[in-house]
Amino acid sequence: MEKAALAATGETQDSPQHRLDAARHGRAEVIPERLAVITGGNKGVGLEVCRQLACQGVTVILTARDEKRGKDAAEFLRSESKLPNIIFHQLDVRDDNSVTSLAQYIESTYGKLDILVNNAAVSGIVADEEGLKALNIDAETWTSGRAANLLKELSTSGARIVNTSSLVSELKRMPNEKLRNDLSNISIWDEDRIEAVLNTFLEDLKNGRLEEAGWPMMLPTYSVSKMFINLYTRIMARRYPKMRINCVRPGFVKTDINWNLGVLTPEQGARAPVMLALLPDDGPTGCYFDQTEMVNVW
Ligand SMILES: NC(=O)c1ccc[n+]([C@@H]2O[C@H](COP(=O)([O-])OP(=O)(O)OC[C@H]3O[C@@H](n4cnc5c(N)ncnc54)[C@H](OP(=O)(O)O)[C@@H]3O)[C@@H](O)[C@H]2O)c1
Repeated sequence: MEKAALAATGETQDSPQHRLDAARHGRAEVIPERLAVITGGNKGVGLEVCRQLACQGVTVILTARDEKRGKDAAEFLRSESKLPNIIFHQLDVRDDNSVTSLAQYIESTYGKLDILVNNAAVSGIVADEEGLKALNIDAETWTSGRAANLLKELSTSGARIVNTSSLVSELKRMPNEKLRNDLSNISIWDEDRIEAVLNTFLEDLKNGRLEEAGWPMMLPTYSVSKMFINLYTRIMARRYPKMRINCVRPGFVKTDINWNLGVLTPEQGARAPVMLALLPDDGPTGCYFDQTEMVNVW
């Protein structure tokens, strides 16, 4: 839009008039060709997605809920990886005020956003990291879901949107048959219905009746959130057909979220989200990718 408006006035982004206008309105002097926001960009897969997108010439807003961790990460990429096109902005995805503040910053500074990588997540449980490592659980056991009991015992517009999902989002892992069937049929869902079902899940969680109600028992909160991220991805893709909106499992990556038990490096884990962030206009949308391969999990 910005470019179209400039073209209409015969201006370029580098013209003195454009710079003057930008300064007056608090906008960036030069609007980047591609602007991306990464949530949870201060470490793990998110940090690597920031690095790889910036290496491709994208201007990256690295966001983090913790100001210091985020600033340090952005500074690290700017200095160590020689990437001046990394900007930090605070964002806690659970805090509406923080989300609004970021949106206003983007709107007033750039007037557009091309890529959003929804990467931030928590596992939903607290575990004894050293105890888990000592058990020497292999990657296959982790990803198959057979470690569920162990965990219980140890527990304390043209835009691209990439929603980071997980293997545990596969509908075959949903024991409740009715919900499994419902989740595969996106036409019956809207935000109100999603909210209602997630409230039921939270009630069942509080009342200790997850198993009885047929919810997944491998990392229940994490699994359910990822199943609904997949569903919401499909709803959004249908609602905004010009955008490319997909979800992706980065692989079993060695990061804090799995107590560093993963087998891929963050660099390998970032490849698929980056690929989807840079899809061409006629690329797939509303799809699930297991790393870089499109698969059907619903
Ligand atoms: N690693 C794997 O094997 C694997 C497998 C499947 C899917 N994934 C997905 O990949 C994505 C990245 O995970 P990761 O492996 O890189 O884990 P990670 O190293 O633990 O990074 C998670 C990131 O999310 C941030 N975060 C958590 N809550 C947040 C909030 N409320 N607001 C903003 N940021 C928040 C964390 O910030 P703090 O530093 O402040 O905590 C951190 O930057 C997640 O969506 C995860 O589910 C990972």
